[in-house]
Amino acid sequence: MKESEYITIEEALKKGSGKVNLRGWIYRQRASNKFVFIVLRDESEIIQCVIPKSKSPEIFEKAEKLTIESSVKISGELKEDVRAPTGFEVSVSELEIIQIADPFPITEHQSPELLYDNRHLWIRSRKLNAILKIRHTVVGAIHSFFRGRGYYEFDAPIFQPSQSEGGATLFEVKYFDDIMYLSQTWQLYAEAGIFSLGKIYNMGPTFRAEKSKTSRHLAEFWMAEMEAAWMTLDGAVKVAKDEIRFIVQEVLKDNKKELEILERDIKLLEHYAKAEYPTIKYAEALEILNNEYQMNVPWGKDLRTKEEEKIAEHFKVPVVVTHYPTEIMGFYKPPSEENPKEALCFDMLAPEGYCEIIGGSERSLLVEDMKRRLEADGEDPENYSWYFALRRYGSVPHSGYGLGVERVVQWICGLDNIKDSIPFPRTMLRKSP
Ligand code: 4AD
Ligand code: MG
Repeated sequence: MKESEYITIEEALKKGSGKVNLRGWIYRQRASNKFVFIVLRDESEIIQCVIPKSKSPEIFEKAEKLTIESSVKISGELKEDVRAPTGFEVSVSELEIIQIADPFPITEHQSPELLYDNRHLWIRSRKLNAILKIRHTVVGAIHSFFRGRGYYEFDAPIFQPSQSEGGATLFEVKYFDDIMYLSQTWQLYAEAGIFSLGKIYNMGPTFRAEKSKTSRHLAEFWMAEMEAAWMTLDGAVKVAKDEIRFIVQEVLKDNKKELEILERDIKLLEHYAKAEYPTIKYAEALEILNNEYQMNVPWGKDLRTKEEEKIAEHFKVPVVVTHYPTEIMGFYKPPSEENPKEALCFDMLAPEGYCEIIGGSERSLLVEDMKRRLEADGEDPENYSWYFALRRYGSVPHSGYGLGVERVVQWICGLDNIKDSIPFPRTMLRKSP
């Protein structure tokens, strides 16, 4: 059989009848003394195949030996069958075994740790297949969102000489005779890039030595960031809301089937795709927490997970919180002129307990204030001289933000753990395969 004569299972299901040639892996196999039933899977779908002993004892014998994940080529007649898992069945007339698989280490009802140990095999599962397809849509949507709005893609180094998001989560690496750090953000280099390209974006690997064992933190993740000259806080917040709605719309357009496999509430996603997302100040968030939920959060403290959860649940759609207390924010987040205790920054919090998916801000133009804040953090401002120089050569107001790709995939897919939103997760406790 020629390559071109094979179709995917999804194409076969669309075709609906007639002869089909399929290639794939054994998803399930069940044999009685009269029939072998196979569920075949490929990248696109699953389909039931039947081999009656009466029709061909020779094929029947081969099919009896098939183990889970064995690779095969199958030809046969396709017909509708409402009892079959995807509504169709192939009556097999040819069966070529490519490889008989060893006993598959993953069977039903496995512990999560065994699934992570066997991640190289588990990514074949229907669940991971569906998540990875949605991740593909999310990543593609981010590129089209920015490219469609005139942003240039701009790359920053992954090896960086200093920290930008706090020394506590830095990964130090040997760099010839020196040491360097893995990128915690693209931002500082992006702030140089906007003076050349105006509006820029990027999606790249990002590293944080997160010691917290939460279901929302990875040590290696992908951040999609944007930065734009002349843009204020309000402008960046608007782009962020539009971007999230766009991503959800794209997933709804391309991945209904995958959302169904994941048993995600599609109605809810349709609501997120259209809804207006509120913006509130940190101070208003505290009022809601303290007055409506008796939570007693004092002004000046960062919001913890359970407080973020309450705020997002309160509004039932993604919500933007701005003006966090300046002194607990990164050195580059500027104090507002009206009230310097509040910074011109924002987080977007996703509902259903998913919390922070985006963090961003206007960028400080106050070099002395930034130096003071870096020093308070134990940093030598000398290491940032190139960054401060940007404030001396045609400095303009500018803003940007970073979106956690895995956080967004986790929320859209409705996943309990962020580890399932990336093919091979890296956390403090998980570094293989
Ligand atoms: O809020 P963060 O730390 O913001 C920055 O790094 C800015 N420099 C971005 C910018 O303005 N260009 O991180 C941005 C987002 C978070 O909102 C979160 O979604 C994600 O990155 N994130 C993580 N995702 C998974 N695991 C982690 N350890 C993460 N840390 C941050
Ligand atoms: Mg943040």
